Amino acid sequence: MPNGIWLAWDSMRSRTAVIPAAGLGTRFYPVTKAVPKELLPIVDVPVLQLVMDEAIAAGAEHIVLVSHVSKTPVEAYVAPSAAVIDKVRASGRDDLANRLARIGADVRVSVVYQDAPRGLGHAVGCARSAVGDEPFSVLLPDEIMGDATLLNALVDSCEKKGVGAVGLMRVPMEQVSAYGVITPSASSPDEGPYDIVDVVEKPAQADAPSNLIIIGRYVLTPDVFEEIDALKPHANGELQLTDALRAQSLRSPLTGMLNRSQRWDTGTPMGWLTAVVDIALTRPDIEPGFRAWLTQRLGD
Ligand code: G1P
Repeated sequence: MPNGIWLAWDSMRSRTAVIPAAGLGTRFYPVTKAVPKELLPIVDVPVLQLVMDEAIAAGAEHIVLVSHVSKTPVEAYVAPSAAVIDKVRASGRDDLANRLARIGADVRVSVVYQDAPRGLGHAVGCARSAVGDEPFSVLLPDEIMGDATLLNALVDSCEKKGVGAVGLMRVPMEQVSAYGVITPSASSPDEGPYDIVDVVEKPAQADAPSNLIIIGRYVLTPDVFEEIDALKPHANGELQLTDALRAQSLRSPLTGMLNRSQRWDTGTPMGWLTAVVDIALTRPDIEPGFRAWLTQRLGD
């Protein structure tokens, strides 16, 4: 594709958010036999709602859920329900009622299906026709963020530079093999933003180019769909989004930005529990009683 066409996305702002939610959630068996992991509650609000709230706070007007046909509760959750909104409002939680009311009203929600767990690259590819020819964000719902600061910064960067932007975090080298790992350009400042000149999925520690890992927030230009189409499956049969980002970054560096807000990895039972406790301690309606109980419990 000639350079001039990539520049077509200069000053185009991402308005669509893709949330891959087709996974079977095996790390949460047995609960995920019946309850999609995206609907696990953080106190009483599902992870999916928190991730949609973040996308909306960063300007999303259209949310594309990549789901699996068996996960009908995901569709039930995004179906409008005036009765639920009224009850939540009547209980004094106006802010939450407003967040619920936006879904399917001023924010359109589309559901597309991924037939089998064929990797994150494949999942994002399933959203292609729903996204169209515009920059879009990808939010992995295994991670929840304290606020939308990072996603907003990624959206701004992509709008300004016309190239994709990804969220990053530094981790101890022993952990890099669980993630996509970037190579920053030699001229990138220590604290970013980084020009990403290469990226590799789940390298062995010894082969990792840095300890800068990709976290589950991306804002991508739509040429990534062509790279996804050209992907070769990994040994496990999965198409990796990271490989498509690699192809893009070899042509023209993507931007990497460190997350400076809170982040919880809710993709494991321990991470999920940590998020529940931390967020319960920020809830004015829960915190006093919960803190008193927890303090006493830990003192036992
Ligand atoms: C996926 C991506 C990986 C990224 C990670 C962030 O991996 O493939 O590049 O670093 O999400 O959470 P997964 O966690 O699906 O194995």
